Amino acid sequence: MNNDIVIFDTTLRDGEQSPGASMTLEEKLQVAKVLDELGVDVIEAGFPIASNGDFEAVSEIAKVVKNATVCGLARAGSKDIDRAGEAIKHAEKRRIHTFISTSPVHMKYKLQMEPDRVYEKVIESVTRARNWTDDVEWSAEDGTRTEFDFLCKCVEAAINAGATTINIPDTVGYTTPLEIADLFKRVIETVPNSDKAIFSAHCHNDLGMAVANSLAAVRGGARQIECTINGLGERAGNAALEEVIMAIRTRNDVFAYNTGINTKLLTRASKLVSAVSAFPVQYNKAIVGKNAFAHESGIHQDGMLKNAETYEIMKPEDVGVGGTDLVMGKHSGRHAFKQKLDQLGYNLGENAFQDAFNRFKDLADKKKNIFDEDIEALVDDEVGAASD
Ligand code: KIV
Ligand code: ZN
Repeated sequence: MNNDIVIFDTTLRDGEQSPGASMTLEEKLQVAKVLDELGVDVIEAGFPIASNGDFEAVSEIAKVVKNATVCGLARAGSKDIDRAGEAIKHAEKRRIHTFISTSPVHMKYKLQMEPDRVYEKVIESVTRARNWTDDVEWSAEDGTRTEFDFLCKCVEAAINAGATTINIPDTVGYTTPLEIADLFKRVIETVPNSDKAIFSAHCHNDLGMAVANSLAAVRGGARQIECTINGLGERAGNAALEEVIMAIRTRNDVFAYNTGINTKLLTRASKLVSAVSAFPVQYNKAIVGKNAFAHESGIHQDGMLKNAETYEIMKPEDVGVGGTDLVMGKHSGRHAFKQKLDQLGYNLGENAFQDAFNRFKDLADKKKNIFDEDIEALVDDEVGAASD
């Protein structure tokens, strides 16, 4: 098994399914172009049967994407599959992703179908999708809550029918890292033809473990990760692409895998998706949050000024951020304040510096955000008072 990980981005499909995140055609095209530049391997561009707008978006994206495979989602029915096939037909590289639920609770209540019928539909749907493309992904929806023997039986049938990627989604974000690693390992060991397909993890974040679970699935043998920019997605979202990528890059000693992602574009992609989906990125979000490379406490700022490795495990430039942000606030120390004055062009003597520093601390106790202008004003007052 090689160590290349296929990055399957579903921002435009699962991400867009977040309530309130819908995007216009123009916005989707912008996102697709950035994803292609970023180097994702597969762009799941939408769910063509869902609406004429979705069909058109997938079809237009299929025409403009240059490098990535363009994928359309379809349920296990011929109308869905043919609509997806039509939508992706202009893409250089095209995939149909077809799925059906396999867990007891979904089969009984959602599908109201017996397992034998679900099994038949797995074969029918993959066979039909293969009429459109050789690149077919099959997903066992709610896979992590599916009975193990039935899951293996469906996976084997999907591969025999021609599926080249097998996805075992954690649809409701229920699994844990140890459990999902073990699940992938056992399925791959048990299914006799498992070497004919790439196994894929698609993890939701209901318990905040989507990224950890995706990486654990890779340890279990998965070689595709399905993720979204900013972790956008249904309910608590999907595994965040930028977190998956930077975990692999930063901890390559533990996750010795390769991806083709240009990490310097991560921040740009994050800002674009946040703008078009109107979902703000939380300040303390890993990798792309406003505070991800910001330090306010005096102890941390002092450490950072001596050596950035004291409090940063990644370089901000590697994810497309200009640099570290030493934020001036009530926790800042003399060292950072001195550096800020140097940056602003002030060179104060010891007494003037101490006075300015005291005034800065008084101000910081009263004001939440201290801007460069605040510091300039208090130093100018200080210098003015001294010369009066
Ligand atoms: O979460 C899920 O199970 C899905 C499938 C359609 C793959 O999004
Ligand atoms: Zn999903």
